[in-house]
Amino acid sequence: MPPDLLIRNATVIDGTNAPRFQGDVAVTGKRIESVGAGGDQRGRIEIDAAGKVLAPGFIDVHTHDDRLLLSDPAMLPKLLQGVTTVVTGNCGISLAPSPPSAPPPLDLLDDGGTWYRFPSFEAYVAALADARPATNCVALVGHTSLRVRTLERLDREATPAQVAVMRAELDAALAAGATGLSAGPAYAPAAAASTAELIAVGQPLAAHGGIFTIHMRNEHDGVLESIEETLAIGRALGVPVVISHHKVAGAQCHGMSVQTLARIESASRTQAVGLDCYPYCASSTVLIADAVRYASKVLLTWSRPHPELAGLELGVAAGRLGLPVERAIAALQPAGAVYFIMDEADVQRILAFGATMIGSDGLPHDPHPHPRLWGSFARVLGHYARDLALFPLETAIHKMSGLSAARFGLAGRGIIRPGAIADLVLFDPAAVRDNATFEHPTRPASGIDTVIVAGTIAVAGGKPTGQRAGELVTGRVGIGDAAWTS
Ligand code: ZN
Ligand code: CU
Repeated sequence: MPPDLLIRNATVIDGTNAPRFQGDVAVTGKRIESVGAGGDQRGRIEIDAAGKVLAPGFIDVHTHDDRLLLSDPAMLPKLLQGVTTVVTGNCGISLAPSPPSAPPPLDLLDDGGTWYRFPSFEAYVAALADARPATNCVALVGHTSLRVRTLERLDREATPAQVAVMRAELDAALAAGATGLSAGPAYAPAAAASTAELIAVGQPLAAHGGIFTIHMRNEHDGVLESIEETLAIGRALGVPVVISHHKVAGAQCHGMSVQTLARIESASRTQAVGLDCYPYCASSTVLIADAVRYASKVLLTWSRPHPELAGLELGVAAGRLGLPVERAIAALQPAGAVYFIMDEADVQRILAFGATMIGSDGLPHDPHPHPRLWGSFARVLGHYARDLALFPLETAIHKMSGLSAARFGLAGRGIIRPGAIADLVLFDPAAVRDNATFEHPTRPASGIDTVIVAGTIAVAGGKPTGQRAGELVTGRVGIGDAAWTS
């Protein structure tokens, strides 16, 4: 029987960080059938990959694509970068189980409260199956979403009874296919949650092989204490922890990644700790006066009362409103912003750190989004790996496929080998580049030729085919797994 698909003469980079090799990859159904010299076999469909790199489909480990998967299942910002799997529900923010309202930062997923309509995680899974998005989804449950759902007053610690409710909802979601719990104590609706509350809610994780990810309480002058809090949560729960979008923010903290990475490195000898990073010196989230203080420059990404000001520098927007900046911040709410707060040397040090995975943290519903949404993966491949030679292409790909799959426990993903799921990307290593900029943030990347999701060709010749084969993928992982100990 000929394979359904035969990719000939590819430079294969298999996702494990092993050196590239020349070969043919045959796919039948959803899986890779063979890897190596294809000889004179013929495929029903053949792709000549001469001069191009074939890699496992990229895994975006940090997204806020919960709603994009439903509202725009073509998933173009991700698919056109070679991303075949997105991890949703990060930073404590998940669309399911839905809270009754969407106070910031939950409104990053929403356009007015109408999308919070999933009474249970199962209801979201059903909607995902109906939407049949172009990429796979690995879903986390947000502690902040559970909190807004459960607590009447968000400015205080959850009571034991409220903890019990949140814990039961997490347990049910994990049983229905969620991969873990995310938390965002940096944000107002979860800031009053103590370390003890996070640990108490996270109790069901270990029994399900779930993971814990966190947008840490403090990413500037208290970043080292926040790393200790994260490590303590991981030890108490007996589960792997992932520090989300690791950064050291604000000029007075620049250079501190030397210490933070040293601490993560030393901790990883005794517990499972990982991290992700996006390849830019600017962050993005809702507009918060506190965050403006640490930034050298702030760009407005959206404002519900003043949509016409999206894309402008905050000072310019304030000028248009005839207000001083502090009053403008209030007048623009609800709103979002890009903050220039990191130092390039820290970004490069964190990206190059062995355990760092790539996650875009893109905000797909922002009218003038941070360019990381459309550019992160191509930027790591083109700008950082090829142009700056920060690391070999094999390492770049490992950070966006094999490492990520292993650490999130995504069996049979993130690797090119016989029997693995055929999530694949074919790209031109000389041409791949990000085109999204802070001025023009939605320009698609170039150099990505073919994207295959579970054996289905989703992008051909750089254009979406309209074929959508994504599904919910559940990761299961334990602290003793080889992916976390080696
Ligand atoms: Zn975050
Ligand atoms: Cu995030």
